[in-house]
Amino acid sequence: MSVRIMGTGSALPKKCVSNEELAQLVDTSDEWIRERTGIGSRHISTGETVVSLAAEACCKALENAGRKGEEVALLLVATCTPEDALPCAACQVQDRIGAAKAVAYDLNAACAGFLFAVHTAWAYLEAGIYDNALIAGAEVLSKIVDWNDRGTCILFGDGAGAVYLERCEEARGGILSFVQHSDGGRGAVLSCAGREQENPYFHGEHRHPYVQMDGREVFSFAVRQVPEAVREALAKAGREVKDVDLFVLHQANRRIIEGIAKRLSADMERFPMNLERVGNTSSAAVPLLLDELNRQGRLRQGMTLVLSGFGAGLTYGACVLQW
Ligand code: COA
Repeated sequence: MSVRIMGTGSALPKKCVSNEELAQLVDTSDEWIRERTGIGSRHISTGETVVSLAAEACCKALENAGRKGEEVALLLVATCTPEDALPCAACQVQDRIGAAKAVAYDLNAACAGFLFAVHTAWAYLEAGIYDNALIAGAEVLSKIVDWNDRGTCILFGDGAGAVYLERCEEARGGILSFVQHSDGGRGAVLSCAGREQENPYFHGEHRHPYVQMDGREVFSFAVRQVPEAVREALAKAGREVKDVDLFVLHQANRRIIEGIAKRLSADMERFPMNLERVGNTSSAAVPLLLDELNRQGRLRQGMTLVLSGFGAGLTYGACVLQW
């Protein structure tokens, strides 16, 4: 028995914003952004929502797998930017894609959210509780970004990606191993306040309602912890760095990915990137890139892939799979 990704999909808002356009909003330049991050443009919502983007990505993943909404047993949406506190984004996506039989709920582990959701689904499928799962990572980060802060607004973009997983009789391949970690003690380095504590009996202090980040701390966390998680997941799968065909990593920053590659002593050709075009889309980043690779025909049967996500929490994880 194995658990396999049978289909992928993704969705991006129509509007693409270049670095030059951002330089009209804040004191920055295309040169600075490209040099420090590798990002050239990002898609920003002009009305698209987490639900609309996730639903579009989910429909494409189902179509890619040759499956229908009514067949879905488990539907998870990883997001830290849902439109509504209630009902959750996954239940709204369920309604839009006609997945009436699915159990649907959201999961928030920021940029590691998609990986954590796949791990959750994998556990259900391995345990025989469900036969399949549809998992989306979807974000509209543009609504929690401070558009006056040049240190953060240049990094993020909106979008969604999805995968459809199925339990197969085949004993080999599919998802081979997982690791996931959380470090709440360092959570303050990347944060965003939620709604105010406010009721007739209590008025909480006002908190900054936008993303706040200590960029250098986040940078060194990613470059240190991700290679460790990748090695841990590879060891669990009985594989080594040299066995990996592609490392599909969270698309936060080109320099972070280069730092991770260096620590793993792996050549950069094995680290595909799309952050130049889409920026950091948080939980959408890994499935978005995976879908692009899939549709470009770059994923061949039998290939060994490592997926890894990392971000606010702090949270990070890695997965080894055979395509
Ligand atoms: N354009 C021009 N200058 C900018 C700028 C921008 N968009 N953002 C910051 N600067 C300036 C700063 O004000 C600072 O100026 P000063 O020296 O006069 O004070 C200078 O550039 C250096 O700032 P610093 O924050 O130290 O730069 P950095 O080299 O650490 O790069 C990041 C900043 C955000 C690109 C980098 O820290 C990073 O990528 N961190 C990881 C962030 C991340 O990926 N977060 C999401 C994880 S899921």
